[in-house]
Amino acid sequence: MISLNLEPLNAQIIRDQMKYQLDDILIFENIPSTNQFLLDQGLLKKQVCLANSQSNGKGRQGKGWLSPPNSGLWLSLQWFENIPPPSTLGLKLALTLVETLSISNLGIKWSNDIVWKERYKLAGFLIETKQIGKQWQWVIGLGLNVKMPENHQVNQLWTDLYRISGKIFDRNKLTAQILDSFLEILENKNFQIDPKIWKKYDILFQKPVILHFSNQSSLEGVAMGISEHGALKLQIGSEIKTFMSGDVTVRLT
Ligand code: BTN
Repeated sequence: MISLNLEPLNAQIIRDQMKYQLDDILIFENIPSTNQFLLDQGLLKKQVCLANSQSNGKGRQGKGWLSPPNSGLWLSLQWFENIPPPSTLGLKLALTLVETLSISNLGIKWSNDIVWKERYKLAGFLIETKQIGKQWQWVIGLGLNVKMPENHQVNQLWTDLYRISGKIFDRNKLTAQILDSFLEILENKNFQIDPKIWKKYDILFQKPVILHFSNQSSLEGVAMGISEHGALKLQIGSEIKTFMSGDVTVRLT
């Protein structure tokens, strides 16, 4: 009988399949948050922290991230440089993830939500930073739904790799592939985004959208792609304005 359970995460198996090297691959059965663990540890190491479940997973905009056991990749990759990360980092990693997964109907909702069929969220990034002496710790958090429980209830439409591909992904192999694709960018400091590739996956392009800010205010406009710094370009009346942060929803017309 074919098992429909996800295999346990295993540091050695992940390491053996990777091209790039990391100082540490830490795996926990359950911790509050893999991002928070690395931030609290505050070590200047190239390392990854994975958890089978998180009891206090963090999402963007101060939201939580439900991370049940045996159902996803709850991963934080730590990097460090003597500067904070460039504003394009999250977008670049989202593009790389979509290309690595290579599943049809995947797109990106600015700034770095991976969605299927333009509305079902598959994965999201939370990048956090901390200054340690003259160095900057970059913590790249990725939540990727692999095979979520039937009763998974969150405040948005969601999907997982199993539902969209019919396949049970091997989490260790997937982790190795994703880490290599991220490390390729970090090692080569290749943070530029090719506008043509972005446009291929940009689900907002030329759509009427509402941009919600953390202070509860919002703005309406038409999404016109991104600037070279990764800012969202919005056409408001006859003007094009750019925005570095905010949460976008598509306006129903
Ligand atoms: C989002 O809101 O879209 C971002 C979700 C990021 C969740 C991941 S899961 C691993 C890492 N640890 C956390 O606490 N959050 C990130």
